[in-house]
Amino acid sequence: MVIYVCDDYGKMSEVAANQFAAHLILKPNSVVGLATGSTPEGMYSELIEKYKKGEISFKNVVSFNLDEYIDLPKENENSYYTFMHEKLFDHVDIKAENINIPDGNVKDFEKYVKEYESKIESVGGIDLQILGIGKNAHIGFNEPDKVFLKKTSVVDLTQSTIDANSRFFDSIDEVPKKAISMGTGSIFKAKNILLLASGKSKAEAINNMINGEIDPQIPASILQLHSNVVLVIDKEAAELLDEDTYIRV
Ligand code: F6R
Repeated sequence: MVIYVCDDYGKMSEVAANQFAAHLILKPNSVVGLATGSTPEGMYSELIEKYKKGEISFKNVVSFNLDEYIDLPKENENSYYTFMHEKLFDHVDIKAENINIPDGNVKDFEKYVKEYESKIESVGGIDLQILGIGKNAHIGFNEPDKVFLKKTSVVDLTQSTIDANSRFFDSIDEVPKKAISMGTGSIFKAKNILLLASGKSKAEAINNMINGEIDPQIPASILQLHSNVVLVIDKEAAELLDEDTYIRV
């Protein structure tokens, strides 16, 4: 695991966008796994700038999003479908047919999650997976549990995640209680993982993920076993780490 620690959110976004861009330059037809949430927003803005300057293109990129709320219309301002289009897809040259975001409004979820998983495999798997991390160390919506979730599934959100996500909704009652999420196993299959974290509220999750036991109660801890993980975090998120374990940028 390579850990880059940046001064602040702006620098984190810039360093993460450079990492992402390097993958697209090396492999323009990369399959990317994408995350939503506050953390990668700055990185997506930086990527849009790089695209406008002609430094990168998404023309041959295929994307798969990690998760989506269940029973929230995709046009809703809080759906991850809306988020991804507003924050990235509408501003770059990605082809609509290459965008995959779990559909939280299908009839047969059992069939659908299997198809989502197979579609990732049919394009050769994910080259670069972007992750944020929850305060409880969730990745995607893989919440702390007795076992690691292997495959893309329908999951119940924990109260801590519902509380955290309520900042985007008018009231906590409007926050969906279920989501479709790629499983920890599906995430783990990605060839490269780029995890971003910013702020003091993520410091404990980051420390547990790196230095804790590998335990499904700390879903991100499974990444200790992955051979290509890069962390780009700010100094507040890194405050519980030993200075000699990271690269200061
Ligand atoms: C979002 C996702 C989540 C978020 C996590 C952190 O697609 O999969 O795991 O990455 O909840 O969210 P933020 O970045 O809003 O703190």
